[in-house]
Amino acid sequence: MKQSRRLTRLAAVAIPTILAGGFLVSSIATLFAADEAVITGQTDDPAVWGRIFPLQYELYLKTKEMVPTKHGGSRPTPHTPTATDPRTIVSQSKIEEDKGLVAMWSGYAFAVDFREERGHYYMLDDQRYTQRQVVAKQPGACLNCHASLVSTYLKLGEGDANKGFAKMNAMPYSEATKLVDHPVGCIDCHDPKTLALRVTRPAFMEGMRVYKASLGVKDYDVNRDASPAEMRAYVCGQCHDEYYFKGDGKTLTFPWSKGLRIEQIMAYYDEAGFRDWTHKDTGAPTLKAQHPEFEVWNQGIHARAGVTCVDCHMPSITYKGETVTDHWVRSPLLNAKAGCQACHQKHDPNVTEKELISRAEEIQDRHWALRQVAMTALLGLIDDLKAAKAAGKSDADLATARYLQRRAQFYLDFIDAENSTGFHAPQEGARILAESINYSRQGQIALRDPNFKPTVKVVDIPPPPAPK
Ligand code: HEC
Ligand code: HEC
Ligand code: HEC
Ligand code: HEC
Ligand code: HEC
Repeated sequence: MKQSRRLTRLAAVAIPTILAGGFLVSSIATLFAADEAVITGQTDDPAVWGRIFPLQYELYLKTKEMVPTKHGGSRPTPHTPTATDPRTIVSQSKIEEDKGLVAMWSGYAFAVDFREERGHYYMLDDQRYTQRQVVAKQPGACLNCHASLVSTYLKLGEGDANKGFAKMNAMPYSEATKLVDHPVGCIDCHDPKTLALRVTRPAFMEGMRVYKASLGVKDYDVNRDASPAEMRAYVCGQCHDEYYFKGDGKTLTFPWSKGLRIEQIMAYYDEAGFRDWTHKDTGAPTLKAQHPEFEVWNQGIHARAGVTCVDCHMPSITYKGETVTDHWVRSPLLNAKAGCQACHQKHDPNVTEKELISRAEEIQDRHWALRQVAMTALLGLIDDLKAAKAAGKSDADLATARYLQRRAQFYLDFIDAENSTGFHAPQEGARILAESINYSRQGQIALRDPNFKPTVKVVDIPPPPAPK
């Protein structure tokens, strides 16, 4: 029963593909014929899937190619192999390009190594060999978004994926990484029997459950309740979000129980009394934001119009004579004909690929200029706090400015770590940067005027528990 419902769902999504190429009909037939033979619920090697779906597999392998765009993509950078890092090509270092990042993350592993992200092909190697593994002991929880994990969860949990998830999170990274062989693969986004899109990550299932509960929806189950169209964002939302590791079990957690917007995420962390680290130069209880593409996309006009990650990053293309979904996940500005123009032409038949790229770059250029203003303001606050500390001010004197640094830093970092350089939600990006500037400047005023009342409530963040 469940099986046939899933199949109907797949058929509903696949109709345009069938009409256009006739590919899916035949591929479903082969899938069932070959199902017993090769693909099982634990086949995590994409090459095995590639025997049945060679076109998607070939495109998937292209994520190995590195191409820069004006603000994104990635630049191949030669690397001399060392004892801890055998890679010969990496992507450009962001901390070498911008020393502001080093000052903002002082005392945290990101100040040692942080690079431009690149294609899915590299996700496992880049995680294994980052210098952040050398300077800090990382948990198995890191693996959740950097490997094909369906069979690992099941093996570790003896058939129970949630148990496997909990076990893996708490392991040391060095142990957990021995249990995986592939970057994100077919099995992580597709049901092996029906090929329907599915969510395989426990943290995203739980994140969506608590987020929907905040909107009054009870017992939301993403695999049961999401529409096929929503799944075209949710498969990506499994990994492209802000996260932290909760408690001693290092449970990968998305901070969404109050909502997906930055104020709500900030309030969540304040209420939890959570800090990622203590800023080395100022003593502020700071937070590191990471890749909130899912949250920020949600605030933009495209999401509002029902346009998903897949529409732009995995558009429908003609490849070797067949109509397929482009499994070469990359910047849409490298393929704006399929990723932007095909859709925009429906409303404006004369719009060119060049014009759409230029609209995107204009948004990004303006965003980047504002981001620089926010960085300058934050560095101003950090310098003033350092000076006040050196002048012998007490912790009580510094408390307000330190809390404002926490806020200004998280707001700037959230938008800077979001990898579209403002494109996914331009106005929301500008609003958050403006708030960040405001917090930095208020922090500077607070250091000069002990009676100054900031526009936000100062929250006391308890010191981190002593390491066991
Ligand atoms: C309307 C089209 C559109 C949608 C929808 C969209 N993106 Fe993007 N995305 C872009 C553009 C344009 C860029 C900027 C690329 C560049 O600078 O080269 C981008 C950049 C990115 C990047 C960085 C890519 C790079 O080359 O540096 C990631 C990662 C990303 N998006 C993920 C997502 C995820 C995940 C979603 C859904 C939650 C999503 N995007 C939704 C258009 C879109
Ligand atoms: C919730 C999913 C998720 C978790 C958990 C996660 N990552 Fe990532 N990671 C990503 C995504 C998405 C990217 C690409 C976007 C980016 O770099 O901003 C990425 C990029 C990276 C990169 C390449 C860019 C860089 O930062 O130099 C490294 C290295 C990395 N992660 C290491 C780690 C480590 C170490 C951990 C554990 C502390 C970890 N990741 C946990 C999703 C995750
Ligand atoms: C990050 C998620 C993701 C991964 C990984 C992934 N796919 Fe897909 N795949 C999609 C999406 C999204 C679609 C579009 C389906 C839809 O909208 O229902 C799709 C569609 C397909 C289809 C239907 C035909 C088509 O091209 O539209 C096939 C077959 C397929 N994928 C095979 C594979 C194979 C083989 C692999 C591994 C080499 C793979 N996929 C990896 C997300 C993924
Ligand atoms: C299992 C976790 C995971 C899933 C699922 C996932 N991503 Fe990623 N994605 C990553 C990581 C990790 C990286 C960075 C890899 C690196 O830098 O080595 C990345 C990189 C990217 C990039 C940057 C490519 C470049 O050339 O700079 C884009 C774009 C992207 N992902 C979009 C998507 C979209 C769209 C989806 C859904 C269809 C998706 N991702 C699903 C983890 C994931
Ligand atoms: C599947 C359809 C679709 C795709 C793909 C798509 N767009 Fe859009 N785009 C829309 C819709 C719909 C709107 C909103 C129009 C409206 O209602 O005013 C929009 C709005 C925009 C806007 C105005 C944004 C704003 O904040 O007002 C820009 C710029 C834009 N798109 C550029 C792009 C670029 C560049 C790409 C490729 C990276 C792209 N779009 C991909 C459908 C799409």
